[in-house]
Parts: sequence; structure tokens; C-alpha cells
Amino acid sequence: DAIVPIPQPPPHWFTRNLPEMDQSFPVSTFWRLAAIYGDIFKLDLVARKAVVVSSYELINEVMDESRFRKNPTGPLKELRALLGDGLFTAYWDEQNWHKAHRILMPVFGPMQIRKMFPDMIDCKLAFDMIGICGFGYRFNSFYRDEIHPFAQQMAAALIEAGKRANRPQVENYLRIKSAEELNNNIQSMWKLCDDLVAERKRNPKPDARDLLNTMLNASDPQTGEKLSDENIRFNMVTFLVAGHETTSGTLSFLFYLLLKYPETYYKAQQEVDRVLGDGVLKPEHLPQFKYIEACIRETMRFQGPIGILNIQPIEDTVIGGKYRVSTDETIICSIQGLHRDRRVWGEDADVFRPERLLNGGWEKLPPNAWKPFGNGARACIGRFFAEQEMIIATAMILQRFQVSMVNPSYNLVLKSTLTVKPDGFRMKVVRRPGKS
Ligand code: HEM
Repeated sequence: DAIVPIPQPPPHWFTRNLPEMDQSFPVSTFWRLAAIYGDIFKLDLVARKAVVVSSYELINEVMDESRFRKNPTGPLKELRALLGDGLFTAYWDEQNWHKAHRILMPVFGPMQIRKMFPDMIDCKLAFDMIGICGFGYRFNSFYRDEIHPFAQQMAAALIEAGKRANRPQVENYLRIKSAEELNNNIQSMWKLCDDLVAERKRNPKPDARDLLNTMLNASDPQTGEKLSDENIRFNMVTFLVAGHETTSGTLSFLFYLLLKYPETYYKAQQEVDRVLGDGVLKPEHLPQFKYIEACIRETMRFQGPIGILNIQPIEDTVIGGKYRVSTDETIICSIQGLHRDRRVWGEDADVFRPERLLNGGWEKLPPNAWKPFGNGARACIGRFFAEQEMIIATAMILQRFQVSMVNPSYNLVLKSTLTVKPDGFRMKVVRRPGKS
């Protein structure tokens, strides 16, 4: 077949396609341009060249790990200042990724995560949950008037990393103050993690089933080596970053959507009443929340917190039968392009309808149609953790409270730090009559 050029917005002679980028909401740039240029287009972002793909067909092809692999460029590369060679930001050939992956995969399996149930029940916010289940540290967000400094530092660092990725290099050099602030935030976050490690080494907790114990004590089945203190620190911060924004963002979208489509809220609440009544939530209840599970999955399809996956061809190749892509290009997969593709999801792809994933709908999905947790070896290690946490939080809230919007006519407005989240969405809760 003949090779066809990939469409590109007209570049500026000096800043190329950088002016196309919406600095405060980078992902929205890809959505906007996809509406103009279609399922595939390229961008010259000066520091890197990107090919943006937004259809099921193309994304399904590039999810093939024998031809393409994750490539931490852009914001992910900037985040290495904070997360180093931790799992999320590691380059594909870094040995520390392979080591940590082998050591940590077993602890993130469904059975191990089920064992964290009592700790999860005990605290109900994403940030606190990963703190306590991960390292036995209580951020106690509920009992503070202000957000924990670590969470503030993290938010600031994520925003700055995102901005740095889409600024010309010279501008990054000139913004001395932003760089200094970023560095201070990084040092404070590292310190908290280093202190936790030191404390655990001073006072070992042999019985704790948390991630910190695994990282400190387990050795790699292949090399027999343990993780270095530096890599443990990078992974601790990684878990806090990766586990916080994503889960809390998804829960916010979930409640927004349940309230916008009230029949789904009603069905979810009925399910909780049927399964739990006034009883206490136990691990054996979890698999019974089929409707809530579908609501969470459909939320992640409809509007998840991660906008893109960055990958790279292992060798120069052709995709879609006619578009040439090379190893020095980043392929940016638009998750929205994938999750709203009508050719896969049908004409009502823009409607929130959890029922589409019930009664065999989930099992019938074509491969790679639903990718909110990423792909293959580099997919989310915290998936079972996040799913269990979100089901627990949703069931406990619906059992006891009636949730509503502070402003009932609110329509979804999105913003992004590194992840996508609702802007200005506020909920209020009142105790359901007769529920203690
Ligand atoms: C990777 C999504 C929760 C830890 C990823 C990736 C996605 C993702 C899309 C792949 C990123 C890429 O390809 O660049 C989510 C979503 C979550 C969630 C939507 C919640 C709803 C969590 C939690 C943790 C976690 C709770 C930790 C406890 C990680 C780590 C990686 C990762 C360590 C990197 C894995 C590797 O490359 O080896 N996540 N995540 N995530 N996630 Fe999550």
C-alpha cells in the first residue's frame, strides 16, 4: 500500500506546533485537534515529535508490545526529577524497573489486596488509604482543616512538571523561581518518605502486610538483590502520586455521573441496600456489587483521570497500513478517542450507561477497547488496589448517605494537573433517614 503523509497543523517557523498546546490543560489540545485533523495527526513540539492517535483501530494496533513500548517523555520525563526510576517513570531498559516490578507485582495481586481490606475500611480517602496500606503512615486528611503539606507539594509539583513539558527549553531555564519551588517541594516529599523508611528500619514491624515491608525485605527472585534505598523512596512517592490523584479523580467523576443520570444512582443504592442492608461491609460482599463495579468501569470509560498513554515504536514501522512512524517519535494514544469511538462503543458512546458492561457486555468487548489502566507490562500495578478501594468507598457512602450536588444545574467542567479532574464540582451529603 502507498504511504500517506500524517496530517499536521501548520507549524510556526520557530515555535513549531507548541502554540497549539493549551498550557493549563494539555490533553484538551489533543481532543480539539482530533476533531479537526482526525484519527491521526502529528505535532512538532520542538523538544519532541509526537503522533497523536485517537481511534480504536489505531490504538489497538499500537498496544502490541512486540512493536511498541512505553516511552516516558513530556510530563513523565519531567516527573523523573521527583519519581526517578520508580515504576511509573522508569525507562523501558532500566534494571530497577524490572527488579521492582518482580518484587512488587505479587503484593499487588487480588489476594494480597483483599488482605488490606481492614486497613481500607479504616480510612476512606485515596491519599490516606495508600499512606496506611502502603507504609503504615496516617496522613489523617479527615482530621485536618488544611490539606496535608505532602498533598500540597505533590499537586504543585505535578502542575509544574506538566508545564515544563510544554514550555520551550529556554523558558524553563529562565524560570528560576519555579524551578527552585519545584526543587523545594521535591526535597520535602523525599524527606517524608526517607523518614518513614528510617523509622521502619529503627522499629521493624515484622507483621505489617504493607508495601514498605515488601520493599525493604523482599529480594528479587531473579537476581537475589534487594531494592536500593533510593529506589524505595522513588517508589513510595510514586505510589502516593499514582494512587492519589487517579483514584480520587475517578470517584469524583463517578459521583458526578451517578447524579447526572439519577436512575443509575438509584440502582446503585438499591444494590447496596440489597447486599448490605444495615450491616457492616465485609470482604465477601465485594464481589456482589456488580452494578457498582459496572458504574466504576463505565465512569473510567466515559471520563477517566488519565488522558493519554505515551508509547514509542521499537523499530521504524507503518501503522494503519499507511502511516510511517519512527523510533524518535512519541505516539500519544488519546484514551478519550479510544473510549468514545462509536465504531466500538456504538452510537450512544457519549452517554453514561453502566448497563452496557453488564449481562455479558464486559466479556464481549474487543481486545484493548477499555484501557483506563494502561497496557501490558507497564499497565497499572495498583489496579486491584484502586478497584477495591473505589468499591468500598462507594458502597459505604451510598449505604449511609444521600448525596446531591451543591449546585444541581452544574455541568461537568474539566481541569488538569497531570491527571484530569472535575473543576468546581461540589457535593453535599446528608445521612439517609433511619441509617446510623
Ligand atoms: C501505572 C491508571 C491507581 C500505581 C498506571 C497507568 C495508568 C494508571 C493508565 C499506565 C501509565 C502509562 O502507561 O504511562 C490508574 C488509575 C487508577 C490508578 C485510573 C485509579 C483509578 C493506582 C494506585 C496505585 C497505582 C492506587 C498504587 C497503589 C501505579 C504504578 C504505575 C501505574 C506504580 C506504573 C507501573 C509500571 O509502569 O510498572 N496507572 N492508576 N495506580 N500505576 Fe496506576
